[in-house]
Amino acid sequence: MPNQLTTDQEHFWQGSFGDSYSDRNRGPDLVAANAAFFGRILSRAPGIQSILELGANIGLNLQALRQLLPSARLSAVEINTRAATELSRIQPDVALTIGSILDYKPIATSDLVFTKGVLIHLNPECLPRAYDLMYHASARFLLVAEYYNPEPIEITYRGHTARLFKRDFAGDLVNRFPDLAIIDYGFIYHRDPVFPQDDITWFLLEKRPT
Ligand SMILES: C[S@@+](CC[C@H](N)C(=O)[O-])C[C@H]1O[C@@H](n2cnc3c(N)ncnc32)[C@H](O)[C@@H]1O
Repeated sequence: MPNQLTTDQEHFWQGSFGDSYSDRNRGPDLVAANAAFFGRILSRAPGIQSILELGANIGLNLQALRQLLPSARLSAVEINTRAATELSRIQPDVALTIGSILDYKPIATSDLVFTKGVLIHLNPECLPRAYDLMYHASARFLLVAEYYNPEPIEITYRGHTARLFKRDFAGDLVNRFPDLAIIDYGFIYHRDPVFPQDDITWFLLEKRPT
């Protein structure tokens, strides 16, 4: 079980809201759309042999990544126990940590570290900890796939306040770690006729060799 949860946002995802999220968001169409998404990302990020997803839920991204990179070492962190249990049942090959990314201490680096729809749900005061984790856990690439807004704003999320925050997460990362270069970025519309995503804006960053 997760311990040391300190924010209201962590409790929210660990509890029944998180359980219901996993019930609503599942199925082969989502995995197919994720395969199209990550196919595009990976074509700009050659040589990846290990990937860490922070906030993986039941593993809809990791199932797509397993198809694309059959030999890669996959790791994940997930705070919701029910989602994590399902992930480990479907993908026993994923090295899974059940707990908060705000407490997570990786034992090794991964070639790609990413979040998709996770930074938006953290308490904004804790973002520096998440940014430091992403940077230090990555051997080379970082991917941020979140809701973008040039200025930080809070949006009501399914009737809940203080649970969804948009901002320029990639800009924050590049400001904090000036050796990060922006490799590519894009937007995927929820009305995409073939492979929709939930209006995410993504940024692929790479550590410049020093
Ligand atoms: C909107 S879902 C996105 C799930 C997945 N990344 C995807 O793209 O399908 C947010 C996920 O992040 C997890 N999460 C939220 N806060 C977390 C935290 N502090 N530590 C670990 N996981 C967290 C939630 O439990 C949930 O699985």
